[in-house]
Amino acid sequence: MSNLEEYIPYFDKKVIVLFDPLSPEAESYRSLRTNILRYNLDRPPKVLLLTSAHPEEGKSITSVNLAIVMAEIGKKTLLVDCDLRRPSVHGILGMDKTPGLSEVLYGTEEWDRVLKSCGIENLYIITSGTIPQNPSEIIGSDKARAFLEEVKNVFDVIILDAPCILAVTDGLILSSLADGVLNVIMAEKTPREAVMRTISMLKDVKGKILGIVFNKVNLRRSHYYYYYYYGARKKK
Ligand SMILES: Nc1ncnc2c1ncn2[C@@H]1O[C@H](COP(=O)(O)OP(=O)(O)O)[C@@H](O)[C@H]1O
Ligand SMILES: [Mg+2]
Repeated sequence: MSNLEEYIPYFDKKVIVLFDPLSPEAESYRSLRTNILRYNLDRPPKVLLLTSAHPEEGKSITSVNLAIVMAEIGKKTLLVDCDLRRPSVHGILGMDKTPGLSEVLYGTEEWDRVLKSCGIENLYIITSGTIPQNPSEIIGSDKARAFLEEVKNVFDVIILDAPCILAVTDGLILSSLADGVLNVIMAEKTPREAVMRTISMLKDVKGKILGIVFNKVNLRRSHYYYYYYYGARKKK
């Protein structure tokens, strides 16, 4: 496996857990990791799905940062770009989009042949692949179920970066296959009704909602920020 230095120039700067690991933002991803792993101590949720009401709320950037902090503590982690309409994990990590999930679901590639590395130990990525004509059908196929069952035997944590819930059905279909769903909300932007509707739709398909991730919260306004940087500076 190649080393991180080779890949890092291509990463989006919002991969904050790598670019500014001592920042309060990076710490909040580590707290999210802790909360997920503590959710059920005997059997922490393995397949995590990140979704939101609308596009552009931060599902992908949250998925990438969360996958990295999981890998950093030694969890063998698989990050899958399941947003087959507006994929972006490949862009965030500066890698090729294809081959990826759509090829696996069409049966033209085996999943272990499309795994990509971004130079981080324990982290494996499956990008979206070619954008298909029929995302909902292939996401809802038996092949998708079988794929998830297989990767569950190999990885400790599987993070599914899903599409938004209110516009298309793919995210809802996937949520019923996940052990836990995280609903990402762009703080001060996502309307309350959209959040409530998303939660009720997830409940209708028996999606296990683990919690809500508030993205883009202005941490600089919070006490937490001052305490965190105080602590970080003292160590220098
Ligand atoms: N916390 C954040 N701070 C700054 N920019 C953010 C943050 N979260 C997301 N963004 C930006 O907002 C846009 C949408 O984020 P993305 O993760 O792609 O959303 P989604 O996957 O929900 O469509 C991207 O340009 C991303 O870089
Ligand atoms: Mg996305």
